[in-house]
Amino acid sequence: MEKELQQIFTKNDLKIVGKAVRRIDAIHKVTGTARYTADYYVPGMLYAKVFRSDRIHAIIKKIDTSGALRLPGVVAVVTGRDLPNKAPFGYIYPDEWILPIEKVRYYGEGIAAVAATSKEAAERALDFIKVEYEDLPAVFDPEEAMKEGAPQVGAKKRNLMNELHTKKGDVEKGFDESDAVVEHEFRTQRIEHSYLEPEAAVAIPEGDTLTIITNSQYPFFARYALAHSLNIPLNKLRLITPPLGGSFGGKDSSAIWCTGKAALLALKTGKPVKLVYTREESMIESNKRHPFIMRYKVGATNDGKLLALKALNIADGGAYPSSSAVVLFRAHVHSTGPYEFPNVQVDSYVVYTNNVLAGAMRGFGTPQVNFAIDSILEILATKLDMDPVDLKMKNLVKNRSTLLTGQILDGHVVSSRQLLKRAIELSEYKKKRELYKQDKGRYRRGIGIANSIRGVSFGGEGFDYANGIITVHEDGSVAIATGIIDGGQGAKTVLSQIVAEVFGIPYDYVYYLDSDTGVVPNPLTTSASRGTVMGGHALSRAAIKIKSRMTKVAAEVLKTKEENIVFEDGVVFDRTDKSKRISFKDLALLCHQRAEVMTESGWYSAPPLTWNPETGTGSVYFTFSYTTNVAEVEVDTETGNVKVLRIYALHDSGRIVNPKTARSQVYGGLSWAIGFALFEDFKLKNGIPQQINFDKYKILRAIDAPDISIEFIENPDPNCPFGAKSLAEPALEIGGPAIIDAIYNAIGKRVDSLPATPEKILRLLKE
Ligand code: MOS
Repeated sequence: MEKELQQIFTKNDLKIVGKAVRRIDAIHKVTGTARYTADYYVPGMLYAKVFRSDRIHAIIKKIDTSGALRLPGVVAVVTGRDLPNKAPFGYIYPDEWILPIEKVRYYGEGIAAVAATSKEAAERALDFIKVEYEDLPAVFDPEEAMKEGAPQVGAKKRNLMNELHTKKGDVEKGFDESDAVVEHEFRTQRIEHSYLEPEAAVAIPEGDTLTIITNSQYPFFARYALAHSLNIPLNKLRLITPPLGGSFGGKDSSAIWCTGKAALLALKTGKPVKLVYTREESMIESNKRHPFIMRYKVGATNDGKLLALKALNIADGGAYPSSSAVVLFRAHVHSTGPYEFPNVQVDSYVVYTNNVLAGAMRGFGTPQVNFAIDSILEILATKLDMDPVDLKMKNLVKNRSTLLTGQILDGHVVSSRQLLKRAIELSEYKKKRELYKQDKGRYRRGIGIANSIRGVSFGGEGFDYANGIITVHEDGSVAIATGIIDGGQGAKTVLSQIVAEVFGIPYDYVYYLDSDTGVVPNPLTTSASRGTVMGGHALSRAAIKIKSRMTKVAAEVLKTKEENIVFEDGVVFDRTDKSKRISFKDLALLCHQRAEVMTESGWYSAPPLTWNPETGTGSVYFTFSYTTNVAEVEVDTETGNVKVLRIYALHDSGRIVNPKTARSQVYGGLSWAIGFALFEDFKLKNGIPQQINFDKYKILRAIDAPDISIEFIENPDPNCPFGAKSLAEPALEIGGPAIIDAIYNAIGKRVDSLPATPEKILRLLKE
């Protein structure tokens, strides 16, 4: 099977993979017939609302729900005390509750939930819930939180959710041998996912089972948390995932807070319960991008050979652990960016605070460290009187380079240099960099470049597999059932293309069902830009099993040898005599009539990886994607406004399965990168969010989008299905530093804390 798959994966004349086929869900979505979670109504359904605390950090002494329960229409009120199992669950380690029992840890935390016969009744009931608190001292600064004697927010000593330490070579010796050493502190901000569709769930009890329609990005995590908290076996919990209106990591672990409350109320009342968050609730409760404090020190020889990097990363994880521990892992092991240092020391910490929680967000810790590493190299380049791009080029990883963790880059094309060379040429960087320095008027242009390497799928700190089920029906149509979720990124389309390619059938023969945990096994989370790679591997394996059975039957009826059978364009024929042929459809029917097994599952386990937490070393990813971004900006020196004029995005994500969905990934990603660089900022004041709707929280508007030129440099990767690697997160992880260096080129000043607001730019210009 593996040999046969390798042959298919490395074919040159692909028919469906590599083509810009229409998204499988395009018609549903543009005609409004796609049903999202909030579109589901069930007879007899109750409506839920969440009671949110206005304390930052406080012991819950008593919650009096009697006044609410006396109101007309109110059916039930639940608190943490109603949880059948009063033990915490966790994404990485247990320290979370569907509803907290002992204390609240952040502003707006939900501590009770109401079910009523109407939304209005549920809403009104919230005013009749009375709570007695005992306030606790709070901590908002991650560095304060790490200190001895700081208020204890969560389950870990010194509020340390995770710490990681890596040493390679001898960093002090590296600095001693350096001709130039620079150090600098960088800060990044908290960011909101801003998906269009807020969290929602409809929980439907039926006998002793609970069916929940919910927009979770990782319904299997929600299922585990529910099973644990509600004492229900996994097979009695059926989570169905309709199309998602965006997620980007945000509905990965945080969606459980909404789903869990609906489920608990359904269990308590025995009735279907619907809970749909408002935008404000979503912004208050969902996890955010971790703000980072990064202190980086680099040393190099006079001719720009990097000798040492010492890096400290401190991330604010907020009030609950979510996926912070693994976000830190990814940030930590990507701290050198795509640059090779013989001597490295990196120390990373993620810390509890009484701020809104932070967790998975597209990029997963790399936009922050990429900003720091590219920026510190630019500072070093200035000191060395070099163009930053020359310094970067000189030190980019290549084949057989050793990463900070000791992993040797091997088994795929390390294309960093190829990308940077092409980016310089395409953007006419050298010419523009000099030309823009001459701008002396009110409007000044600048150009900057940043590079990245990104580990594909999960890293070596955990396990990694995926799975899926395929059925070939009697009419030759094909159904895919898997828990790989389409959050809008195009997973359904791209994986259907992969399955169609394996079967040699037209793409429109394939249908991709919504995930149902009652039917499909857990393929682990659709995150880490792993959907295409891991889902593609698993589904190809399911498909090839059925295909080999169909091959046997075809050889028999066409009276030829199995090795002569070819599947192409929906026809199965004998390569030695093309007149011997049968349509895929007829062959499927025949196979059914002969009782051949036409449903198969495929499981794919990622190649083995290593991680030694003691030394911070290991072979941490089985392959990597490469990216270069060039940004051109125009700074208005009177207002401080920065306009991004153009971005060139160059990607080696291996083979591109669908050029259209791939481009949309890059456009979407870059809109985030621009917000990260220039204006997005989820501000808290003593833990209280200051912008909880889009009237105040700014994201990129279409009218402000720059010209974007995308080039895919396809080096198909032998580790991946049809050579396709990750693209989703590479798309946004270096637009930030490219823009910031372009601003430096424009005004000769460097922004070191994001976002680069007009106020900051004006302040720098005055210095
Ligand atoms: Mo992603 S942030 O790995 O869903």
